Parts: sequence; C-alpha cells; structure tokens
Amino acid sequence: MFNRWTGWKYSQRYFEMLDKRKTLPVWKKKFQFLQYLHDNQTVILVGETGSGKSTQIPQFVLEADFLEKHSMVACTQPNRVAAMSVSRRVAEEMDVTIGEEVGYIIQFEDCSSPKTILKYLTDCMLLREAMADPLLERYKVIILDKAHERTLATDVLFGYLIEVLRNRPDLKLVIMSATLEVEKFQGWFNGAPLMKVPGRLHPVEIFYTVDPERDYLEAAIRTVVQIHLYQPPGDILVFLTGEEEVENACRKITKEICNLGDQVGPIKVFPLYSTLSPAMQQEIFQPAPAPLNEDGPPVRKIVVSTNIAETSLTIDGIVYVIDPGFSEQYVYNPRIRAESVLVSPISKSSAHQRSRCAGRTQTGKCFRLYPERSFNNDLQPQSYPEILRLNLATTVLTLKKLGIDDFVHSFLDPPAPETLMRALEVLNYLGALDDDGNLTKLGEIMSEFPLDPQMSKMLVVSAEFNCSNEILSISAMLSVPNCFVRPREAKTAADEAKAHFGHIDGDHLTLLNVYHAYKQNNEDPSWCFDNFINQRALKAADNVRQQLVRIMARFNLKLCSSDFNSPDYYVNIRKALLSGYFTQVAHLERTGHYLTMKDNQVVHLHPSNCLDHKPEWVIYNENVLTSKNFIRTVTDIPGDWLIDIAPHYYDLSNFPSCEAKRVLKRLYRDTKNRK
Ligand code: CDP
Repeated sequence: MFNRWTGWKYSQRYFEMLDKRKTLPVWKKKFQFLQYLHDNQTVILVGETGSGKSTQIPQFVLEADFLEKHSMVACTQPNRVAAMSVSRRVAEEMDVTIGEEVGYIIQFEDCSSPKTILKYLTDCMLLREAMADPLLERYKVIILDKAHERTLATDVLFGYLIEVLRNRPDLKLVIMSATLEVEKFQGWFNGAPLMKVPGRLHPVEIFYTVDPERDYLEAAIRTVVQIHLYQPPGDILVFLTGEEEVENACRKITKEICNLGDQVGPIKVFPLYSTLSPAMQQEIFQPAPAPLNEDGPPVRKIVVSTNIAETSLTIDGIVYVIDPGFSEQYVYNPRIRAESVLVSPISKSSAHQRSRCAGRTQTGKCFRLYPERSFNNDLQPQSYPEILRLNLATTVLTLKKLGIDDFVHSFLDPPAPETLMRALEVLNYLGALDDDGNLTKLGEIMSEFPLDPQMSKMLVVSAEFNCSNEILSISAMLSVPNCFVRPREAKTAADEAKAHFGHIDGDHLTLLNVYHAYKQNNEDPSWCFDNFINQRALKAADNVRQQLVRIMARFNLKLCSSDFNSPDYYVNIRKALLSGYFTQVAHLERTGHYLTMKDNQVVHLHPSNCLDHKPEWVIYNENVLTSKNFIRTVTDIPGDWLIDIAPHYYDLSNFPSCEAKRVLKRLYRDTKNRK
C-alpha cells in the first residue's frame, strides 16, 4: 500500500490511526456527505464536537478528487491553537510531514509549501488572503469550520463568500458547526442542505451547587481535589478564564494534591491557553502516562483550560468537567471607545458544550459551580457573536480593502451603528479613510499589515521620524505575549531584573531596550533565563519583526534609525508612537487621576509600568478593566506634541469641557505666540 500523496509506503502508525478514524461518527456519513457536496455548491454539516468534522471531512474531500491541478482545500479555524493542532493531527493521519502536503497558516507563521493541498488556516488569514486573491482562486473547496463560535472573521467571511460563490460556480463551500442553531446559516446561504452527523456521546450527569460560590477559583480547586479523592479513575477538565488564572490553579492543584501524600494516586496537570507553546499544546492530547509501578493507581490527567477547550479543541478521555460558569471576553464599549477584557458569565449554550466534553469516552459528570436556578434564570441562551461586541476598526479597514461598503446587509448579525461609526471615525482620523469614507493610499498600505490600524499607521509613518527600525521592534514586542517572567518564588529578583531594562520615558521604550539587549546577547537562552525574560516571546517577536519588514519592503517603506547618541533618538520614537496612538492619550488631572482624552474616563496606570513619575500626558497601548480601569504599556509624551502631530484630533472646537482642554488651549496659545 502506497501513500498517494507521497508515493511512499504507509507506516504502521497510519493503519493504527485509520482504524481509529473509521470509528468516528462522520465516517458513517462519508458517502452521503460527498454526494451532497457533489450536488450542491454549499453544504452545512452539524455534528457534536469530537465527531470527526475538522480532521476527517477535509480528507474526504481530498480523496474524492474535487481538486484540479494546483488547487487546494482550505479549512478555517477560529484560532491559532486549533489551526496548529488539527493540521498536525491530520498530517499524522495522512502519513505526511506537516508543512508539506498538509500545512497551516496562522498570523505571522506560514507552515505550508508549494506541495500543500490541504491548508488549515485561521479565519483571519483567509480574509487576508482574499485581499490579494479576491476570488480565492487557489481553492476549490473552502471549509468554514467551527462556525458556531461566530468569530468576527468567520462572520465577515459569511458575507464575503456569498459574493465569491456567485462569481465562482466551481467553488464549493462547507460550513461546519457543533451546535444545532444553524437555521440562520441556512437562511443566509439560500437554503443550503443541512446534514446532521449523529453524535455518539455518552450520558453526562450534571451537578449544581446549592448556593452561589463566593470564590469560583477556590471552589474549582476544591472540586478537583474532591474528585481525585472520591471518584473513580477518569481525566478532569477545569474551565477557568485566563492564562494567569490557569497557571495559578495548576500550581495550587499540584500543591494540594501533593500534600495529601501517598493516600491518593499520582496526577499530571496540564495548563491550556492560546499562547501556550505548540509543543506543550500537543502534550495535552497524549493519554495520561502509565502508573509508576505496575499495580499502582492510574495517573489522573487534569487539564486546566481557558474557554479554548470548549469547542476549539477535542481532548479525549475527559470524564469529569468542572464549570465555574465564567469566561474571559473582550468587550468594546463604543461610547467610551474602550475595549476591555471582562470575566463574564457564560451562556447556556456554552455551559451545554462544556458539559459535553465529559461524555466523549464514557459516561461522565459535570460539576457546575453555580445553583441550578442561576443556570435557568441568569444565563442568557446564546453567547453574543464577536461582531456585536468587538471594536471593528481593523475589520472595517479589511472590508474597505475587499470592496465591501454595505456593512448592514453583509452580515448575519449587523453590528451596532455606534460601533461602526467609531470604526469609521478612527480610520478617518488616522487618514486611512477620506471624509467620504473611501480608502486612501495610506489606508491601502495600512490594510496590508495584520495589525490594528493605530499600529499600522505608526509603522507606515515611522520612516518620516527616522526610526522605522525601532518602531518595527516595538510593534513586534507589542504583538507577542508579555516578555517579562515573574515567578511567584522570585518576584523581587524578577522586578529587579526588569528595572534594569526600564526606560524613564515609559514602557514602549523599555520593550525596545529588552529587544536590543536580547539581540546584543546573541539571543542566548541563559541570558534570557538570568534576566527573567521569556525567550519564546522574544523569538516570536523576532519572527513577527521579520514579517513586518517584508511588508515594509513591499511598499518601499524605508528602514532607518536616528543616531543612538543623538538627543533625538528617543524623541523621534516617541513622536512616531504618538502619530499612531494619538487617540489613546490620558491626562493627569489635578485630582491625581488620569482621564482619557475626549471620553473623560478615569483610568489608572497599570502597576506593571516602569515609570518613576506620573507624567502629565501619556499614550497607552491598551485599556484593561480588571479591579480598576487600567491603562497598560504607557509612555510619557509632552502635551505640545499633541497639537503638532494630531491637530485634527485635538481640535478644541469639538472637545468636551475639561481640565485637559484648558491645558491644550494654553498650549495652542503658546505655540502661536512662538510663531
Ligand atoms: O471537528 P470535531 O470536533 O467534530 O472533531 P475532530 O476535531 O475532527 O476530532 C476527532 C478526533 O480526532 C478526536 O476525538 C480526537 O481523538 C482526535 N484528535 C486528536 O487526537 N488531536 C487533535 N488535535 C484533533 C483531533
């Protein structure tokens, strides 16, 4: 038996995996599915998470010879972790090397080759490809996977692909969803046929608490320990909200169970969140290790995950699910132009998906850490799709570039008018759209950067400030996870190490210092370790930087630096920062509080900042609403730059009356007098 893709003999593992694959529910529907796809341009497929949609359907399509020479199958995923892990799995199943016949493309990482025939890519990346290839001509079949997650990019693709299908009768589209609420999709695609894959889930018993828990984290950890003590073997999946919380819980669980000593069996705890290294993500799919000695108790696998394990990834072997009922969500408030990360109650539909994770292998149990009455009365039925709750500036720029102007009829759920207005407004201030809402030359270039519009603008104009090299490094550092490591047992040492990189003018320049030091130390891992720097973040930044350099080169944007010894070196960088982020400025009031410009929201400098003073004006990279409304990654800027660099934004005639306005008025007067 020879592999038709590589011409090589199949490995033993191929056959082992094939046997397992054949037991997946979608296999029973293989021929029916292919018939549907043959007869229709669009097919909607619904099946429980774990039924084999993401891994098998694209392979069925490949085997059925829908492809012509040089054409490909694309399968979108809602996030990078899903794209990487499913493609790796499928490469294994097809007995090929990842990056060759089967590849993946995620932001800043292209693991594909001219040989690739099946490409897993994030929905955002498919949209970016559409910018250069509007009819997506390289694909013969496009699969929108996990459409129920309703990410912003998937919703945009729904609107966009309708047009592409009209213009390309030869293109086939498959929409896959894990939930049954697909009438909307069917209505959108003119009654496309729906195919249901019957699940093979085992029953899951649901338990509720009598009263609400005061501290869900503590309750979740307690429940893990209880299960481990009193429940039969079976892996545990705990849903928490964010990376830090997940890591923290992993440590506590390990400690508490270790403290129980020999009276309990061994455990292996895995954290799971989107920025985890690919190698560690892969580990989660491995079964729990064998017991230490032959007749010892089995090792229990405990996965502590963010929402990502809800439907994005399928982990086999889970028997117990612990669901505290919360998830972390980005929510944009157009009224105050601020995006915040909020820990909010999940929907009934999410709770349902979470509980199902317990029944894939055998009868399972789901412990909801809230009372049944809360489930019935307080949880909303569905989660809001991202398009209704995120900032749309980047999306509007992408749509403009794709030639879509009708924002109301292009979406399954049209976004709030106020959010659209805000997006159009900021793009106009940045110069990406003219006053009639048309894309400018600058906007065209900005749309090519896979970044938010402020950052793209800063990069495009950075050469004018003679510091594009430095702005590239800062942008790269802002695009990767936090580079500072702060272990609980060495907080002081970590803070001291960080202070060495600190720049008095702020965090953006501190990040630049870290990047420079990393390069000067030849990217040495032990240097990173000694300085409490996360090498993976720096490596990723280096990669991002290289990709951004390529985009700069495509548009002949000059790479340049000011003389490091010149007093203007940092001044120029800060000016370039402001030219992108002039809409994100806060002013220190006499009351000692910062107020954001125009929206007058009280904000606080995030404790991670490295300033040794409270500057009168700061630009900030992001707003984070946790215990307080924080601004994170801040840099000091002189007030008169605001009126030099962004006079159109700081036009006082449309400014609310406030202390900052009075200061700006004075600054305008002083500048005029100087002239
Ligand atoms: O897409 P759907 O949720 O229907 O299922 P799938 O992702 O195709 O997963 C089918 C099976 O493939 C799972 O039950 C796992 O056994 C396996 N799988 C895996 O081992 N590793 C992955 N990264 C993805 C799937």
